[in-house]
Amino acid sequence: MMQESSLGLDRYVVIGNPIAHSKSPLIHGNFAVQTAQQMDYRHLLAPLDGFFDAVQDFRQAGGKGANVTVPFKLEAFALATELTPRAQAAGAVNTLKFDGERILGDNTDGIGLVADIVRNAGASLAGKRVLLLGAGGAARGVILPLLAELPAQLMIANRTLSKAEALADMAHHGNVAACEFSMLSGQFDVIINATSASIQDEVPPVPAGIFAAGSLAYDMMYGSKPTSFLRFASSHGATPRDGLGMLVEQAAEAFHLWRGVRPLTQQVFADLRKAMEAQ
Ligand SMILES: NC(=O)c1ccc[n+]([C@@H]2O[C@H](COP(=O)([O-])OP(=O)(O)OC[C@H]3O[C@@H](n4cnc5c(N)ncnc54)[C@H](OP(=O)(O)O)[C@@H]3O)[C@@H](O)[C@H]2O)c1
Repeated sequence: MMQESSLGLDRYVVIGNPIAHSKSPLIHGNFAVQTAQQMDYRHLLAPLDGFFDAVQDFRQAGGKGANVTVPFKLEAFALATELTPRAQAAGAVNTLKFDGERILGDNTDGIGLVADIVRNAGASLAGKRVLLLGAGGAARGVILPLLAELPAQLMIANRTLSKAEALADMAHHGNVAACEFSMLSGQFDVIINATSASIQDEVPPVPAGIFAAGSLAYDMMYGSKPTSFLRFASSHGATPRDGLGMLVEQAAEAFHLWRGVRPLTQQVFADLRKAMEAQ
């Protein structure tokens, strides 16, 4: 049922399970105030076997769009009636836009990562040796946007080699190769941890020699303290950066898709960082 405070406002949600931890309502609330958009954005917990019904109920109640998070990105891909090329390439959807019968599915994770690396961290990817660790949903979603920056090489390394090889094949690109962690050699300019190892505070078993002074080590995971991966990378000379900026930038891209306005991201990023450090 529509809640009192959302009457007259365009309604959006972030759907996941679990979902209470999501910072998306905070981020989009900030964007809405900043750009004077009349919208309401909330958490929506969907049952693990009830994603489709939750989305259809929300659409029927007048919902305009949704962000989708774990574990529903593949179901959102299946639900969309139209896909952006980057969602098609990612095989997963993190943003839905509802327009009558039309359900547009997009994936803004990759563009968010690239914006954070290139624009916020000031690290060019053009002509660089880039290493992507992991071959799950997050890794798959960032390959096309990374390649659009024209790196000299994109190496995908994963615990299960066959999954890295499948992603490299999917990319159909001469500069993309796959290997296991133990097969890595030489230094990389940008190393992106897209494994979920940091959730267990583990470090993918990569050789320390992949890092160099001047390398950027990026962990998609974020939190109040640097992950073990970032501490390991720093101890071998790399500059660490976590995935908070990716989170904010993917949200900005979704907001732009829905509202046609591009919000500024620096202040909300700084506020979130400050709030996290105070925890
Ligand atoms: N900042 C953001 O906005 C943002 C957005 C999306 C995702 N993320 C983060 O990205 C990470 C990956 O998410 P996902 O959806 O891709 O997960 P996923 O689909 O479950 O994939 C997990 C990947 O991690 C690897 N892995 C798991 N445990 C490992 C370990 N102990 N050592 C080495 N490799 C390990 C898996 O290797 P195998 O193939 O061998 O199993 C697989 O490649 C998560 O931490 C997530 O929070 C952040």
